[in-house]
Amino acid sequence: MAQLIGGLATSHIPAIGKALAKGLQQEPYWKPFFDGFAPVHQWLGEVKPDVLVIFYNDHGLNFFLDKMPTFAVGAAAEYHNADEGWGIPQLPSTAGELGLSWHLINQLIADEFDIVTCQEMLVDHACTLPLKLFWPGHEVAPVQIVPININTVQFPLPTAKRVYKLGQAVGRAIQSWDSDKKVMVLASGGLSHQLEGERAGHINSQFDKQFLQSMVSNPEWVTQFSDLEIVEKAGTQGVELLMWLAMRAALTTAGSGVRQVHSNYYLPISNTATGLLALETLA
Ligand code: DHB
Ligand code: FE
Repeated sequence: MAQLIGGLATSHIPAIGKALAKGLQQEPYWKPFFDGFAPVHQWLGEVKPDVLVIFYNDHGLNFFLDKMPTFAVGAAAEYHNADEGWGIPQLPSTAGELGLSWHLINQLIADEFDIVTCQEMLVDHACTLPLKLFWPGHEVAPVQIVPININTVQFPLPTAKRVYKLGQAVGRAIQSWDSDKKVMVLASGGLSHQLEGERAGHINSQFDKQFLQSMVSNPEWVTQFSDLEIVEKAGTQGVELLMWLAMRAALTTAGSGVRQVHSNYYLPISNTATGLLALETLA
């Protein structure tokens, strides 16, 4: 059976794409952000995952407000990057892991998650930037992917409790996949940020730090809050932290716990308090 070996989480911000394209990693504005990734690069070089299940939120590219699935799972052989209007450089396509996609889809439906299945799925910065951040030396990251989109764009959003259950179902499904591949789960989004309205620029470091801590030792902590409470605390886009929750919930189904490999917290990049986390599943 496939092994679920760990989890990764990072913020995604279109400006990161521009910084990568222009090679600004050593500039004072960017250095504390990019430096956070070095210990994770070393770990990934050692554990070498084959497949990544990526929890991310589309920002109006593949799913627009007229048709907004709550949960959508990719089942494509390849995922093309497109730009929803930020003018950032396009990254090369990434190969899908079709066998795992269909296994996940079948298991999730059997588990009573009425997901949308996407045999074509354009992916935006939320799916592609983490691959560049975690495998910077590669034209294309040396992994196959299964993207899972969670709606954090248009209310009603799934509750944190439901996202946690989705993550657990994904974790169980990964480990019942008949494959000898090593799988990691990745979360793209957060932490606190708000891009529009009177509170544009809202950041809540105290909440972010509590959330980061909970991701290691108390994964269900944030499920006590409603989506509106999360928005109130973390901002209208800070609710992207639901991706982190799904990732962490998946890991609760594997092994005997997690070890924190590395974490970083730095702000602001653009309007966002950025977070980075790498967790290894303990045998
Ligand atoms: C920013 C953050 C995001 O999560 C996003 O999707 C787009 C922009 C920002 O801080 O600029
Ligand atoms: Fe975003």
